[in-house]
Amino acid sequence: MSKPIGSLVAAVAMTTALTGPAVAEEFKIGVLLPFSGVYAALGEHIENGFKLGLEHFKDDLGDHTVTMVRDDTEANPGSSLAKAKKMILQDKVDAMTGIVSSAVLAGLRDTVDAAKVPLIVANAGNNMMTGERCSPYVVRVSFSNGQVNRPMGKWVYDQGKKKVYLMAPDYAAGHQMMEAFKSTFEPAGGEIVGEAYPPLRGVDDYGPYLTAAKATNPDAIYVFFAGGAAIKFVKQYHEFGIKKDIPLYASGFLTSAAYVHVEGEAADGITSILHYTPNIDTPENKRFQEAYQAAHGKVGSEFSAQGYDAARLIVEAIKASGGDKEAFKTALRNASFNGPRGPMKIDPATNNVIQNVYIIKNEFKDGKVHQSVLDTIENVQDPVSGCQMN
Ligand code: PHB
Repeated sequence: MSKPIGSLVAAVAMTTALTGPAVAEEFKIGVLLPFSGVYAALGEHIENGFKLGLEHFKDDLGDHTVTMVRDDTEANPGSSLAKAKKMILQDKVDAMTGIVSSAVLAGLRDTVDAAKVPLIVANAGNNMMTGERCSPYVVRVSFSNGQVNRPMGKWVYDQGKKKVYLMAPDYAAGHQMMEAFKSTFEPAGGEIVGEAYPPLRGVDDYGPYLTAAKATNPDAIYVFFAGGAAIKFVKQYHEFGIKKDIPLYASGFLTSAAYVHVEGEAADGITSILHYTPNIDTPENKRFQEAYQAAHGKVGSEFSAQGYDAARLIVEAIKASGGDKEAFKTALRNASFNGPRGPMKIDPATNNVIQNVYIIKNEFKDGKVHQSVLDTIENVQDPVSGCQMN
């Protein structure tokens, strides 16, 4: 005999009273990205990826919800700090994400740490923020500047390039990436024959820098540039006509899928290193690329993948914490999953991601740039470098 409805309702009410009701929580996420200036393309890709990640993994949220507030950081530490403070104090966000520039990240670190509002870094690679100045509230799902450049010094030396000239924008990311290259190139026996650090903004002509580099007669040049600066640099290097004699090696942001189609033939022959390339042959990457291309009519880049993984990290932490906002903060630091770039795991000793890094060949044929993986360096993990979680 079936139970009368009245007693069923009573039974449900009793269970709820014993275990406590499951509260559907709203997680408000502040998205801080450059939507204008030299890194605007990066911001657009990260935001697109973030929204796609929320869409793909929303079922894991259960009854909880994620809402977004967003603001433009350009690549400006001063205005970014004011905008982050507004998000924390006025919008009362539960977490923030985004941040492209290492300088912007450095400017936010103390505010985030003091407010105990987690920041899920979706780009900026500043080593210090998961090193000497690490914080339990700064979790990086993207890369560190050391991680995605360090293996390249020895690799380039092993290609027979013994004398290398370095070039990168004059701010934290540029210097840290070149230092990382040097840290394996010099011990291998290589010699840095010169280096130049042009300003991040406002350089229209890299000609004088290239003239100075050529004069040192290097076997190769190693550079980092991203966004609008990368497009300009790659085109001007090509027009300068030295690539055959002095091959160009780079941190892979130089030929990001976000803009390598604009560089076109000028990207031919560049060898780069990065934690993502659109052709990774896994079900996770296929799902990501198919959906991204269907939604935006263009290939998803490392920046889009970083945004996508930031969303997934947030969703997984909400799920693991059952919606408890304190437990959510800890759960962010203990996540691991297979993303579009391959296996990834947050290292709780530093809060930087552990991931594969790929050496990539750029070839221009049949009217487009083809990027293929020459080598994979698995599970690259940063040294603790003075990080003491408080
Ligand atoms: C950084 O400032 O940390 C940065 C910016 C753009 C990139 C990579 C790193 O493509």
